[in-house]
Amino acid sequence: MEKLLEVKNLEVSFQTYGGEVQAVRGVSFHVNKGETLAIVGESGSGKSVTSQTIMRLIPMPPGKIKNGQILFNGEDLVKKTDKEMEQIRGKDIGMIFQDPMTSLNPTMKVGKQIMEVLIKHQNMSPAQAKERAIELLKLVGIPMPEKRVNQYPHEFSGGMRQRAMIAVALASNPKLLIADEPTTALDVTIQAQILELMKDLQKKMGTSIIFITHDLGVVANMADRVAVMYAGKIVEMGTVDEIFYDPRHPYTWGLLASMPSLDSDDKKELAAIPGSPPDLTNPPKGDAFAPRNPYAMRIDFEQEPPLFKISDTHYAATWLLHPDAPKVEPPEAVKKRLRKLSSNYDKPIIVKESE
Ligand SMILES: Nc1ncnc2c1ncn2[C@@H]1O[C@H](COP(=O)(O)OP(=O)(O)OP(=O)(O)O)[C@@H](O)[C@H]1O
Ligand SMILES: [Mg+2]
Repeated sequence: MEKLLEVKNLEVSFQTYGGEVQAVRGVSFHVNKGETLAIVGESGSGKSVTSQTIMRLIPMPPGKIKNGQILFNGEDLVKKTDKEMEQIRGKDIGMIFQDPMTSLNPTMKVGKQIMEVLIKHQNMSPAQAKERAIELLKLVGIPMPEKRVNQYPHEFSGGMRQRAMIAVALASNPKLLIADEPTTALDVTIQAQILELMKDLQKKMGTSIIFITHDLGVVANMADRVAVMYAGKIVEMGTVDEIFYDPRHPYTWGLLASMPSLDSDDKKELAAIPGSPPDLTNPPKGDAFAPRNPYAMRIDFEQEPPLFKISDTHYAATWLLHPDAPKVEPPEAVKKRLRKLSSNYDKPIIVKESE
């Protein structure tokens, strides 16, 4: 499989009054052409900073890329000028957020916003761009696109705004789409429709997707592979099957037991991971998860674990994978949750008819 994006040893910090926040601490991963990588992890683990750094959208200062490479089609985005990045953002990489109002311009008609991309990056004439804008609105499922094209974002419902944002992101036919919790604010039915739409477009256009979500059903339904982040690092990575059926990092166990799945009614059984993430102005030595890890050994507090290889696609950074470590299993509650999730895993988990 061909790699579209390869992030190597990325480190991103923010200068604050409280000190330097080490938000991303040596992250490496890749995304193949046409595949979807889900990034999961508790709040503050560095998911958004990682994805915004790829787009070079973090504010600098206070932000700073301290180290690493972001190879996109073999070219390092870290080295690009702001002007070059602007081209890449309008053309090769698209991004959709949780709140469409942050990326849609409230003072400009929706159609005009799509047309701008087309005129600027696809060299279309205004007439061609308008025609294509209507097509795109239709493609993302907006009814009466000929009328909607002349309306402002506030005239759209939440779900429609989300669709409009996707239409803007797709206008340039990007090779990579970064979706940072794009459907969290929407109701379940609309959410399912937007996810279906994204999958459909991916199939048609071969787009690669990085999908950040807190919903396990969405992961199961959308992702090919999953990266689990904790305290600015990837602690486990694998195919969806490997992460769901054979998770190895105790943090992944806790996370899987704590993440909601909108399609299931087991919210009462969700257990947050006790304790809280470390202070990223002064990250601990050793495994950052150690203080919250019921299986922690002495070495966890002293030395950072390497990424142990479990299969060609599955890696986890925990000393429990050292050949000399005691064999431990995920807690029964985690296994129970996973069994329950996997029982509807082969069916479309979240995309179902609303009752
Ligand atoms: N502009 C900034 N200035 C200082 N610190 C920042 C800034 N932006 C992000 N951070 C810090 O970087 C860390 C990672 O934040 P990030 O937004 O990537 O988390 P996240 O995994 O996306 O969380 P969530 O699930 O809540 O969206 C956090 O500790 C956050 O406080
Ligand atoms: Mg975030």
